[in-house]
This record gives sequence, structure tokens and C-alpha cells, in this order.
Amino acid sequence: MSGVILKNLIKSYDGKKNVIDNINLEINDKEFVVLVGSSGCGKSTILRLIAGLEDITSGDITIGENLVNNVHPKDRDIAFVFQSYALYPHLSVYDNIAFGLKMRKYDAKTIKDKVYEVAKALNLEDLLNRKPKQLSGGQRQRVALGRAIVRNPKVFLMDEPLSNLDANLRVHMRSEIKRLHNKLKTTFIYVTHDQTEALTMGDRIVVLDKGKIQQFDTPDVIYNRPCNKFVAGFIGQMNFIDVNVENQCFEIEGHRFKTDKTVSGLVTIGIRAEKMITGDVKIQVAPEITEMTGGERIIYFSLNSNKCCAKVPMDYKIGETVELKISVDDMYFFNNESGEVI
Ligand SMILES: Nc1ncnc2c1ncn2[C@@H]1O[C@H](COP(=O)(O)OP(=O)(O)OP(=O)(O)O)[C@@H](O)[C@H]1O
Ligand SMILES: [Mg+2]
Repeated sequence: MSGVILKNLIKSYDGKKNVIDNINLEINDKEFVVLVGSSGCGKSTILRLIAGLEDITSGDITIGENLVNNVHPKDRDIAFVFQSYALYPHLSVYDNIAFGLKMRKYDAKTIKDKVYEVAKALNLEDLLNRKPKQLSGGQRQRVALGRAIVRNPKVFLMDEPLSNLDANLRVHMRSEIKRLHNKLKTTFIYVTHDQTEALTMGDRIVVLDKGKIQQFDTPDVIYNRPCNKFVAGFIGQMNFIDVNVENQCFEIEGHRFKTDKTVSGLVTIGIRAEKMITGDVKIQVAPEITEMTGGERIIYFSLNSNKCCAKVPMDYKIGETVELKISVDDMYFFNNESGEVI
């Protein structure tokens, strides 16, 4: 059993500000958990703390059955894949993959067998004699993965491993890594700032902001039942519209809506960009900008003076005005001050 448990985890670099601010997280054995959040929210720091590359300020880290607070990184039985791959430039692909095994004094036959097994799994068999600089980004990425999996670690930590790849290769490697996870049946903790990566790869997603967990749940729940405005805005494209609710009624651009929620006063309404033309109340807006994104179009406009956007099909009628169709059933209600969902 190799779950990872973080208990009251705090990290401060300067003794003043907690960049990791009391994180509690229970990751199950064999689970694929994605940490997502904007730049500087503490994603890499959490991985580095789990790996032991950074000392914790307070709290506990348990890997499997073992409290590892004071365990040396090399004895934690984890493998780390970095954004930069960190391959040894002077070593061949074979030696890069074999490196960790040689350090651990495996015998030559075992090393060879393991390297070939991994090379086969990652389709690197024809590249074993090359140096890293003779490889494409995607190939280097696979070598870095190979070097990590060859040791059979209990836990994989991956810090934005796909961010150096072009868009197509990234999509391809996403499914490769998922396949690897299904095959290895090991715990994966994967960091990204890309919401699509988080939604497509994670069994569960941790949404972080300023060193704190905002929500930890399945992609479905994170997307459909965000717990606050931050999560709703970070995952997917959501519009936020300020309204004043009286007797459970409010107006958007002069159109009246009624909610059965017991709310009153200033409230922020959330509605997803793809739900702007699927409801029953028609609102005419004048788009300020329209963007072609390939299969669909995004139009930008204002509602109650809030900047909003809608995803519409390419053949949607775009003229001086555009017809939105919104429904109160697709709206989320957020506390105007705390941002908590109502
Ligand atoms: N060695 C360090 N000394 C001081 N502050 C640090 C150090 N490493 C990170 N920080 C700070 O801790 C915070 C979290 O950094 P971290 O690298 O974990 O962010 P991140 O979520 O991985 O961001 P990114 O998406 O940009 O990689 C940031 O404010 C960063 O400036
Ligand atoms: Mg980082």
C-alpha cells in the first residue's frame, strides 16, 4: 500500500509567509492525483516536500505505512520527473535509464533486462545508443519517464512533464502517461497548470490557490459542483455576473429571473460559456470581439457591466447583435464577498 498522506503540512521559506498553508490531503494507493493551480500557488513545493528535496516547516508526510519526515530522499522510494527532464547530456539513452540502477549496485544482467523492458514499454528500443541532444522533445520526455519507472518506485511525482512539448505531442503524451499509470498500477501525483490536463488525466484533482486546497474531488464534481468562485473560474470558462436579488428575483440586462434558492442582496451569478445559448430566456447582446477557435467561435460582450463570453457553433448567426439563451437552471450562485457557492 503506497498512498500518500499530508497532514497539517506547512512550508515557509522565510519564516513569515506560509507558501504551503496547512495542507491536508489523503491520496489513495494507485490513485492518479493532479495538483492544479496558477503560477506560484505551491504545486512544485508540495512535490518537493513529498520527495524530501525540501524540508517541511511543520506537519507530517506519510508514504505507504511510513512517516517520512526525516527519511532521506533516496530512501523514500519515489521517482521524480521534472519539467526540464534533467537527463545527463553525456550519457546515452541506455545509460540515462540505467543510471539509478547502477547507483543502487544492481548486477549487469538485471540492469540490462530492466532497461530493455522499459525501452520496449516506451518505444525507445531504437534510440538506446543516442545522446539526449540527438532526440526530439517527446523522445527526451519518454527517456525521463523511463528513468523514473525503471526503479519500480512506490510513488511517481511529475512536475509539469509535458509543458515543453508542442500541442499535438502533449495530447499524445497525456494518454501515454495515463496508459503507463494503468499498467504500472502505482500512485501518481502530477502537477500542471493546464486545466484540460487536470480534467482528462486525474482520478481526482486538487485545486490549489495561495498554498491552500480549494477543492479535492473527481473531475466531474470539480467541474459540475465547484465549491467556490475560484474553482469555478479556474476550471472551465465561467462568466460571473453581479446581480441584486430581491424576493428571490433578479435581473440580467432587464430580463427577470427567479431562483428557488434562499438568497438576497448582492450575489455573483456564474454561468459557463457553453451554457449561454442553451437556455430559455433570450437576451440580445452586441458582441465586442469574436474569436475563431477552430470548431467553434467565442464571442465577447457585457452583461450587467460584467465582461462575459459565450461559446457558439461556427454557423451561429453573428451580426450587430447576437441572441443568447440562458436559463436559471444553469446558474451557480456565489456569496458576493467570500466567493463560497450558495
Ligand atoms: N527556494 C525558495 N525560496 C523562497 N521562496 C520560494 C522558493 N521556492 C519557491 N518559493 C516561493 O514559493 C511559492 C510557491 O512556489 P512553487 O514553485 O511551489 O509554485 P508553483 O505552483 O509550482 O508555480 P509554477 O506554476 O510557476 O511552477 C512561490 O511564491 C515561490 O516564489
Ligand atoms: Mg512549479
